[in-house]
Amino acid sequence: MNLHTARLRWSSALTVALLLAGCAGNGGGSTPSDSNDSGASSAKAQRIAAMNQVTDHHSYSRPEEARITHLDWDASIDFETRTITGTATYDMETADDAERIVFDTHDLTIQSVMIDGEPAEFALGPDQPFIGRPLTVNIQPGAEQVAIRYTSSPSANALLWVEAQGDRAPFLFTQSQAILARTWIPVQDSPGIRFSYDATVRVPQGLMALMSAENPTAVNPDGEYRFKMAQPIPAYLLALAVGEVEFQSVGDRCAVYATPDLIDKAAFEFAEMEQLLLAAEELYGEYAWDRYDLLILPAAFPFGGMENPRLTFATPTIIAGDRSLVSLVAHELAHSWSGNLVTNATWDDFWLNEGFTVYFEQRIMEAVYGRDVSEMLATLSYQGLVDEVDAISDLNPDDTHLKLHLKGRDPDDGMTAIAYDKGYFFLRLLENTVGRERFDEWLGGYFEEYAFKGMDTERFIAYLDETLLADPADKAAVGLESWIYGPGLPANCPQVSSPRIERVDAILEGWEKDAIVSADLPWNDWVYQERYRFLSNLADDTPAERMADLDAAWGISRTGNNEVLFAWMEQSIRSRYTPTYPRIESFLIEVGRRKFLTPLYRAMKETGQMEMALDIYGKARSGYHSVATGTMDDLLDWK
Ligand code: BES
Ligand code: ZN
Repeated sequence: MNLHTARLRWSSALTVALLLAGCAGNGGGSTPSDSNDSGASSAKAQRIAAMNQVTDHHSYSRPEEARITHLDWDASIDFETRTITGTATYDMETADDAERIVFDTHDLTIQSVMIDGEPAEFALGPDQPFIGRPLTVNIQPGAEQVAIRYTSSPSANALLWVEAQGDRAPFLFTQSQAILARTWIPVQDSPGIRFSYDATVRVPQGLMALMSAENPTAVNPDGEYRFKMAQPIPAYLLALAVGEVEFQSVGDRCAVYATPDLIDKAAFEFAEMEQLLLAAEELYGEYAWDRYDLLILPAAFPFGGMENPRLTFATPTIIAGDRSLVSLVAHELAHSWSGNLVTNATWDDFWLNEGFTVYFEQRIMEAVYGRDVSEMLATLSYQGLVDEVDAISDLNPDDTHLKLHLKGRDPDDGMTAIAYDKGYFFLRLLENTVGRERFDEWLGGYFEEYAFKGMDTERFIAYLDETLLADPADKAAVGLESWIYGPGLPANCPQVSSPRIERVDAILEGWEKDAIVSADLPWNDWVYQERYRFLSNLADDTPAERMADLDAAWGISRTGNNEVLFAWMEQSIRSRYTPTYPRIESFLIEVGRRKFLTPLYRAMKETGQMEMALDIYGKARSGYHSVATGTMDDLLDWK
């Protein structure tokens, strides 16, 4: 569909909305139109509008025909049956000749559909792997509202129902990114489609409900909560948590929510949140979401953090007791601009969310904690990237491109260090090429210009060409084609140097040769990044006696820092250092964070310890989220 037919087909209000909002349509097949007679700026607008007809292969919705603009959600949360029963009432915008509106669903039971208060015809299409079933509702021109009554499945992929245990209350949380929102609410589940929302949620008495919205700060005795998210968000940022949760303020705009056993520890650990927020605003512009709070979830949460607007969801494994793991909060906070404000239009453009966010995260860390800390993070990021390129280059070289092709695949496959760290180094290259001052001004301008809009890779390139890389010499120096559409790491990848990390490497070399004994390591002078570097680079065949004297000297197995503990556990598996094994088992049963599970189970697999892996996994699996079991089932060939 080109712009002219679009003009004819659309009501003018919607055309304007589309041009401004740059929605990700599923129309596809458009070509930029060069013929225009109304000046350069309108040529640019047309080109951008045409380019923006991107196809999201992971959604059935057809926003060019009818799209949602606001959600009113009314739901009851039932811990007994592990179901959510609710009504999702959407306001919609429709093309003049629209005949249907299509929603994404996955494992949902649809009870009824109403259009503008009248029962409506609907159909559920065939089920497809990952993406589920389309819910198609027939509409008449001018239809304004559609209400869908539904129930979720007890095995809904987004949801983790954590059972009550002893005096611990039950807990429920959602994880919607990338395409799991559709397992707990029928929705147009494409990151290019945005809507505001209101919600009324009923939960068991004594529990608090929280969403990616304006939130309560205390338990409501009647168990009913009301929410409002005034800014439009894509479906993957819809989030809900229900549990015995307390609130503690840590700043004017920041607070932590956590279960009673963790609330004080969390308030101490994240006391610097407001400082991070101020540093972020100082860098790239005003925070658009009013409050920034943090919810500490049960340890089964499969990620480190999830940038749900106004309320980041986080793993408790970042509570170290010494504030050493706050860079994760900097990362999720940075998403308030890169991702939540300017949003990847499809999951093939995931690097636009994560690469920008890693860059922004490191700039926040530099501003608050200094360049030597951020350069250590950059060095670790570089090591992670080189390892990842190594790991996937042979199997799937295309997966090392920034721009991905995930059609027919689980978008989760794109969640590799490529999007994060290759994306980061690409932006660092841009910074180096034009200088920090120009780069910072440009990035702030980018967030402002595309706020609350979708962004795809091609449109981003066009924007870069017109702005930051308008000078052909700069453009040639960057070579963005090979970064974005080419494999591996281009030769002009920026170098990082961290004297502190280099010193660790030298000390490790000495220790490996026995020239330095464990008791003489400067362990207590090291921050976690240095300790992590040391442990994660130990040789696989490090003898048990040396592991033992390391631990005897520095009490590594008793560290409160889970990153350091994780590196210690992985090394223990690789060098078959059995004194750590009971701790590994209890850790894997308690913690469901995939970033830790995958390397630990993989280390067992690669070292011929499958029996142990399967034994532990058998005990732990029912406590993990579907995102984690999906990966681990494959890794361990679990049936
Ligand atoms: N948005 C991601 C998490 C995510 C990505 C969930 C893709 C589902 C699909 C989040 O911002 C993230 O990147 N989390 C990282 C932490 C970060 C410090 C790199 C994580 O959880 O490990
Ligand atoms: Zn992220």
